[in-house]
Amino acid sequence: MPYPYQIHSLEQYHEAYRKSVENPQAFWLDIASHFQWKKAPDSEVLQWNFKEPKVEWFKNAQLNITENCIDRHLEKNGDKVAFIWEPNNPNEESIQITYRELHQRVSLMANVLKNNDVKKGDRVIIYMGMVPELLIAVLACARIGAIHSVIFGGFSAKSIVDRINDTQASIVITQDAAYRGNKETPLKKIMDEALMAIDFIKKSIVLKHTGSPINMQIGRDVWWHDEIEKVKSFPACEVETMNAEDPLFILYTSGSTGKPKGVVHTCAGYMVFSTYSFVNVFQYQPNEIFFCTADIGWITGHTYTIYAPLCAGATVLMFEGTPTYPNAGRFWDIVEKHRVNILYTAPTAIRSLMSYGDEFLKGKDLSSLTKLGSVGEPINEDAWIWFHEKIGRKKCSIVDTWWQTETGACMISNLAGVTPEKPSYATLPLPGIQPVLMDEDGKIIEGSDAASFTLPKETIKGNLCIQFPWPSIIRTTYRDHERCRLTYFSTYKDLYFTGDGCFRDTEGNYRITGRVDDVLNVSGHRIGTAEVENAIDSSDIVIESAVVGYPHDIKGQGIYAFIILASHIQNPDLNAIEHHILNRVTENIGAIAKPDKIQFVSGLPKTRSGKIMRRILRKIAEGEVHQIGDTHSILNPEVLDEIMKGMK
Ligand code: WT7
Repeated sequence: MPYPYQIHSLEQYHEAYRKSVENPQAFWLDIASHFQWKKAPDSEVLQWNFKEPKVEWFKNAQLNITENCIDRHLEKNGDKVAFIWEPNNPNEESIQITYRELHQRVSLMANVLKNNDVKKGDRVIIYMGMVPELLIAVLACARIGAIHSVIFGGFSAKSIVDRINDTQASIVITQDAAYRGNKETPLKKIMDEALMAIDFIKKSIVLKHTGSPINMQIGRDVWWHDEIEKVKSFPACEVETMNAEDPLFILYTSGSTGKPKGVVHTCAGYMVFSTYSFVNVFQYQPNEIFFCTADIGWITGHTYTIYAPLCAGATVLMFEGTPTYPNAGRFWDIVEKHRVNILYTAPTAIRSLMSYGDEFLKGKDLSSLTKLGSVGEPINEDAWIWFHEKIGRKKCSIVDTWWQTETGACMISNLAGVTPEKPSYATLPLPGIQPVLMDEDGKIIEGSDAASFTLPKETIKGNLCIQFPWPSIIRTTYRDHERCRLTYFSTYKDLYFTGDGCFRDTEGNYRITGRVDDVLNVSGHRIGTAEVENAIDSSDIVIESAVVGYPHDIKGQGIYAFIILASHIQNPDLNAIEHHILNRVTENIGAIAKPDKIQFVSGLPKTRSGKIMRRILRKIAEGEVHQIGDTHSILNPEVLDEIMKGMK
């Protein structure tokens, strides 16, 4: 049996779950024993409190995660393909990299970092497209104990500046430009713009990928390939010994305040739980090809394109492009070409591909697929059924995996073919995960809501919390521990609060309904309403704005912005202004945060204390003008009529 901790039946799941709750320390210590350590975990398995918060797993142990991702496979599986890279352009060759080659390439890049003075604990910013070197750069950092912070290639120069300032990184790794569909994003140019605002970045390592012309700043910018040449004669890079709780990476994510926060994950706990989740949720078998479609700039790519599959010795597929280039059959071409067995993607991609009808499925051989996965937002029933019937040919199990950047890995999900699936339910918690539902008054909601769908929603909706630490729980928000406490551990005493609303049925299945805070989920991308408002308000022709989400057929949620323009704007050209505002958002955050609808208004509904009544704006954006609810406390009711008349 390849993975001693793989669960094979519903009974085994219940047994594992029971053990994980009765004695979490013993449970995780046993699983940890199947990894490679420099110093094995001892009996001090877990110290924790959710007050500060402080969580330490396997505190006295030492390891390097890349030894688990790469070195430990060399002896038996050195020639196994670690990852397949499929380029944006289908006419270009794909690339296969074995574990042995991965070892060499990561070792070389790790030596490049050392040669450029990067030391254990230093922060390294990575701003790249989905190229093989991105995965290599990430692992190279981990190998020498540098803390990587990957910035999604769709973010703007201003977003990069915020992240570099927050991490106080000393070096960046980027590439000339990235291909995505028929677009080319000038990553190096965007990075140059960001670096104009920063004086402490000493080096920028630049990968030549598209060959597009770029400016190299002498003394600061160096070519990836030149740097590799310099270390070719160096001995292989040995792994740095890390303490279990040393940070592995920082990944920025949006919250309900304007500034994204740097979620910190640490070495040992993240490794153990992410690998455990991968092997169990996807029921991975050693000969299978696993295709995770997420960009490595998000947590899904970190965990399920890089760390967990490689720790499990799997073969992963990494794709540079988009699902609709050169046409909406691209995913299916990739599945057929590489005989993909497990496809892990997002509901927004499923809905988008579904909207093209069956044309792009014709003649595609999807028979290699045995398991499908969904992540990022609730998967609606239509999308689930299409995925099941058309892609899974009714033969594949579908896992609906609920988790977050902060949780590091899947938390609530069925285990493919092992525990029951239920469309639109993430179903049961993984072993080690102890969810509770809380009501508004901070009381635990016991039991289930089997009758829920006949009840008014408000009466049964609980807020999803977790009452016990799991190994890959967020440790802190970088350089601002208090923010971590306030955001996740202060809403409910002694609980981690997820920010999500949730139902539970009589079998204990969980159905996540979405965020209950001011965070939007647009095409599976997490965007804070306050971030978008700040971007809009940065324009001096704007007095104030309010941003809310509304249901969107493909994106899940769309962004609706209500904007008050400055009164000195006479005869405004609204089209031009809209354009200007969209540009503002693109410059400040990135194109992913552009509002889908903009409505100019003369006022926003406010409470007597001056707070914007988002609840009302949300109803208007959702088109539910007749269910606006109580408007008693509104200070300026006259604006409501106007807003409803001008609704988009
Ligand atoms: C938020 C986390 C976890 C990787 C991708 C997103 C929503 C995520 C599901 C799901 C319903 C889901 C939640 C969560 N979400 N997966 N299977 N069902 N909702 O990570 O950017 O940190 O966003 O995504 O609202 O809080 P993220």
